[in-house]
Amino acid sequence: MAFTMDPERIHEMAMNMLQKGVFRARSFQDPRLAQTLFGVKFPNPLGLAAGFDKNAVALNHWHQLGFGFVEVGTVTYHAQPGNPKPRMFRVPEDRGLINRLGFNNEGAASVATRLASAKSSVPVGVNLGKSKITELADAANDYQESYRLLHSFGDYFVVNVSSPNTPGLRTLQEKGPLLEILSALREVDSKKPLFVKVAPDLEWDALDDVLAVAQEAKLTGLIATNTTIGRESITHDPGEAGGLSGAPLKIKADAVLAHLARSADPSLILIGVGGIMNGQDIYDKIRFGAHLCQIYTGWIYGGPHMVPDALEQLVMLMQRDGVKNLDELRRTGL
Ligand SMILES: Cc1cc2nc3c(=O)[nH]c(=O)nc-3n(C[C@H](O)[C@H](O)[C@H](O)COP(=O)(O)O)c2cc1C
Repeated sequence: MAFTMDPERIHEMAMNMLQKGVFRARSFQDPRLAQTLFGVKFPNPLGLAAGFDKNAVALNHWHQLGFGFVEVGTVTYHAQPGNPKPRMFRVPEDRGLINRLGFNNEGAASVATRLASAKSSVPVGVNLGKSKITELADAANDYQESYRLLHSFGDYFVVNVSSPNTPGLRTLQEKGPLLEILSALREVDSKKPLFVKVAPDLEWDALDDVLAVAQEAKLTGLIATNTTIGRESITHDPGEAGGLSGAPLKIKADAVLAHLARSADPSLILIGVGGIMNGQDIYDKIRFGAHLCQIYTGWIYGGPHMVPDALEQLVMLMQRDGVKNLDELRRTGL
């Protein structure tokens, strides 16, 4: 029944209930899934991807659904309404979703206030984007102003330069502008773990440029990937502009992740996201080189028990293959 309603309306209703702590998943914990990475303890490797809890309103509740960490945002310096509705479209035949929300969020000052009083029992990442009204040439300053307000409230920070729904944003993935943004953030706080989130539509050459930036700017890691502007992987194209996520994104996102893992310095942390629908998909991403994974669309399709179900399946697959922990699984490779 819920799937016949407007997807953004359902999302709003779900967020309301989440804030009240109405949803709870069965508990599933296993010491083989725990890791300490960049000084942060993760109880399991599956996090909530950016864009679900943009304003950090349900931060105290995500662990009850089994997530091992949460990424809030994208947050922009200026509060902004995003694109006109409707702007979120289901592609049920392909278990996909298309969105062109355009960074609707309450702005960095308001999210900072909320984060200051929130208590999450799992690690929290904060994803930063460029305000729509800020010129591309002033992007570094815009990210820096957000970071100034937010930097003390996250376990890690993400520079999002890969959303397809803010005009010109993805050009900030190029070496020059990206280095400028990262050094502006380092001026404010040089100690916090920093990630860059990349698009799945970059050529290998462009990914290699991002890797060079990662090295030069001493990034903690990369997040691969955001949504795709491609439509070749869906059988039922609703003809809507925006970024495609979910099952049809998996092959592309995995290919980008695998390329990064092959070429990156082994100390670079990789977070794999795009098309996770079950435990096998997490297993694949870790074997492609991911240290951590994230999910958005698959959780909507899978329902409230999706995370413990997927983690249990992951442990079963590890057991089947005689793998003792996630580090060993990553080293077996694909
Ligand atoms: C409705 C929607 C909103 C999103 N908003 C953001 C966002 O604000 N910032 C961001 O970095 N990624 C955003 N994403 C991308 C997700 O974080 C993720 O990278 C992408 O959906 C692929 O994962 P999935 O296949 O598990 O959904 C959004 C995705 C969806 C479906």
